[in-house]
Amino acid sequence: MIAIVFCIALGATAIGAPAGASQDDTNATASGPPVPPAPAPVRQPDGSVADLDAKLVVCDPDAPPVSGAGVTSIFEPESPPSREIRELGFLVFAICIGIFVVVQGFLVLAIVRGIRSRRAAREEGASAEPTQVYGSVPIEVAWTVIPTIIVFVLTMVTIRTIRDIDITSPPEDALEVIAIGHQWWWEFRYPDEAGEVVTANEMHVPAGRPIWLRLESADVIHSFWVPRLAGKMDLIPGHTNYTWFEADRAGIYLGQCAEYCGTQHAHMLIRVYADEPEAFDDWLAAQRKPAIEDPTVAEGRRVFAEYACLNCHTVDGTSDGMFGPNLTHLASRDTIGSGFIPLNRENLRAWIDDPAQLKIGCNMPSLKLDAAELDAVTDYLLTLN
Ligand code: CUA
Repeated sequence: MIAIVFCIALGATAIGAPAGASQDDTNATASGPPVPPAPAPVRQPDGSVADLDAKLVVCDPDAPPVSGAGVTSIFEPESPPSREIRELGFLVFAICIGIFVVVQGFLVLAIVRGIRSRRAAREEGASAEPTQVYGSVPIEVAWTVIPTIIVFVLTMVTIRTIRDIDITSPPEDALEVIAIGHQWWWEFRYPDEAGEVVTANEMHVPAGRPIWLRLESADVIHSFWVPRLAGKMDLIPGHTNYTWFEADRAGIYLGQCAEYCGTQHAHMLIRVYADEPEAFDDWLAAQRKPAIEDPTVAEGRRVFAEYACLNCHTVDGTSDGMFGPNLTHLASRDTIGSGFIPLNRENLRAWIDDPAQLKIGCNMPSLKLDAAELDAVTDYLLTLN
């Protein structure tokens, strides 16, 4: 039975979602007048929707450089808060199993003794009615005092865990990162005197150093959850929450928005890259640099600047849109669409062509670029590393 409960719990914490959502979802979440159904996905000459579907990966199996990465189980913690949560979970589970065994033991004992005494009484020709007992002070005291003690113990250990993980000021030597939830992607900001670094969906942190995470929302309520690093914490519009974690060792830790926030909630994935401290410093320094201006992709830059791209996306030196992910160093990331698909030329081109083909309900519109413009913008964006 324990194994079954564990399997269910493990299954519930495993992150994975089917590629694409049904057409009904789009209309169900829209407010106002009914929205006509979107046209069927257009098949591209180089990379049909079916081809792309086959390549969709939620957890890239090739990426994790350490064993166990790519797993999202709460039973494999790699950070103090998640470890405390697991230990508390085990303690509560063990106590519950103890209560279950004792209660079921008494029940089985009562049934067996009842059957035996009834059989004995029948053989003696006496009444099969067992002795009736009315009230028992020792039993009344026992089942009042024992549960009270159990509840008291559970309350105290829970309060201790909450005090350790739900702290109100940053841990010593913590790195502050701001996470902003958007429908349906994550913005990560690294405040720094040398210039703020802004990235999306893939959060880099130094391993072995506490991360003080400031959580905000740009629209609706989201929830930041990387099971191996920390518990869930909501991102609430107009309200700032804080949480913290400290990755024990370098690796990729996968997470997911854990509060239903609309059509693409299931594809609002988080990738936390815990780097060795020097590698993290290098990453931060590279992200702080302005966007690369490659003269061979001037045409792509022109298309990007002429169309509406720049209203939503920031590319340092070219545009400062705030609605979509910052693209200044897009090509340094492994995925696009909030961890939904790997970043490669084919996927990026299909995404720019019509994001809703891949993520139904996505707020980025199709700009109806022709094939040459698509190629130019794709090539330009791929230079931004
Ligand atoms: Cu954001 Cu669910």
